Amino acid sequence: MTYSTSESGKLFERAQKVLVEGVSSGSRGPLNYKPYPPYMREGKGARIWDVDGNEYIDWQLSFGCLPLGHAHPKIVEVVQSAVEGGTHFATALEVEVETAELMVNLLPNVDKVRFANTGTEACMTGVRIARGITGKRKVLKFEGHYHGWYDGLLVSSNPQIPSTLGHPNDPVRIADSSGLTPGSWEDTLVCVWNDEDAIERALAAHGHEIACVVTEAVMSNMGVIPPKPGYLKHVQELCRAHDVLFYLDETVTGFRVAPGGAMELYDLQPDIVTYGKALGQGFPVAAIAGPDHIMESIEHGKVLHFGSHNAPRLGLYATKTMLEEMTRDDNAGFKKIEAIGNEMTSRLNEVARTVNKNRMVVQSVGSMFHPVFTDREEITNYRDFCADVDLGMYRKFAAHLRENGIFMTGNTILHNLSCTEHTSQDIEDTVNAVGNALEDI
Ligand SMILES: Cc1ncc(COP(=O)(O)O)c(C=O)c1O
Repeated sequence: MTYSTSESGKLFERAQKVLVEGVSSGSRGPLNYKPYPPYMREGKGARIWDVDGNEYIDWQLSFGCLPLGHAHPKIVEVVQSAVEGGTHFATALEVEVETAELMVNLLPNVDKVRFANTGTEACMTGVRIARGITGKRKVLKFEGHYHGWYDGLLVSSNPQIPSTLGHPNDPVRIADSSGLTPGSWEDTLVCVWNDEDAIERALAAHGHEIACVVTEAVMSNMGVIPPKPGYLKHVQELCRAHDVLFYLDETVTGFRVAPGGAMELYDLQPDIVTYGKALGQGFPVAAIAGPDHIMESIEHGKVLHFGSHNAPRLGLYATKTMLEEMTRDDNAGFKKIEAIGNEMTSRLNEVARTVNKNRMVVQSVGSMFHPVFTDREEITNYRDFCADVDLGMYRKFAAHLRENGIFMTGNTILHNLSCTEHTSQDIEDTVNAVGNALEDI
């Protein structure tokens, strides 16, 4: 089977005249989908269909925004009924209270939440809160971690040629975009991740001027790189010792790796935590959360956080329903996506061993998994990823799968995910297609 995508091709012709790169976010365009992206029309469960009518098993799931898959009947019912009562009021809402109550019940170490729309905004606010509370200016982030496209954190987030990264004791800070003033990231320090000595050194040298250490819980913008056992707890302890706030960015892991996210999975008590992606079940809903003594900083705009679209009404109905569905029957939804992710990981690694002589390695944390092409047995940090992962090979692999009805992300540095709607047959079909792709590419 090879898909024809001529209707997508025609749309791309039109799109290029009115949309930059024919899309609205670079990673969806020809950078990752050559020569043009498939334009999607519809989704149901774990399936999506493009404008040519081709059907795909979707493992990208809107970059992790859909724990219940597409057009889940409960979400459709609740949102359809909600929309008849209005789209957005920008006033206090009952559903806002109910959703926050559900979240606080699930999240260890969280007393209050504040709703925003995107992970980027939430992360920008998280950093501002840290600076506001501590009165300190600097923020420490890690190489290869992405926290959205806010200027102050848009440093050293992309894969680079290894020789440009500098000494691991003092990584070169690499701006990820033009248009950033040196001032916007002058106060952003960069450290290597998954290395206890490195963060100890950085905090010993700069702790007195650092407001917070911000970290992804699982490195999820370089495939999937789990934290080494105990690493995040150690970072948290060091933060406490140096009077630095510990900020866990759970935009990807929140409401995915466990009901209480990575905080629960790794037994962490962050001062600041942010959510997005899965939280909105496809709607733009994000949140900043933490204990009372942290969250009170945004009261009355002491540390300012505003937004016309904060707590979007329809999105919150979807969020509340997603939380109810995922936690039903003793968190059956969370257990299911984890089981599917684990099964995908072991089955794909098995195929890799038989077909591909170990060139492909699948790394995962529960429902998040990603195949990387490397001669290493494991990728444990950003520098290994930059040096030893063949991104071109992944691009060919994902294109081959797409032509055969499997939609793994075309973005070479992101990851794939499971939802409650994937079936054993989906796994079987994907494993077979992966075997064929590995033979062919
Ligand atoms: C860890 C992390 N933080 C923040 C963001 C930004 O979220 P958004 O794309 O909703 O702005 C992302 C997006 O990929 C992310 O992976």
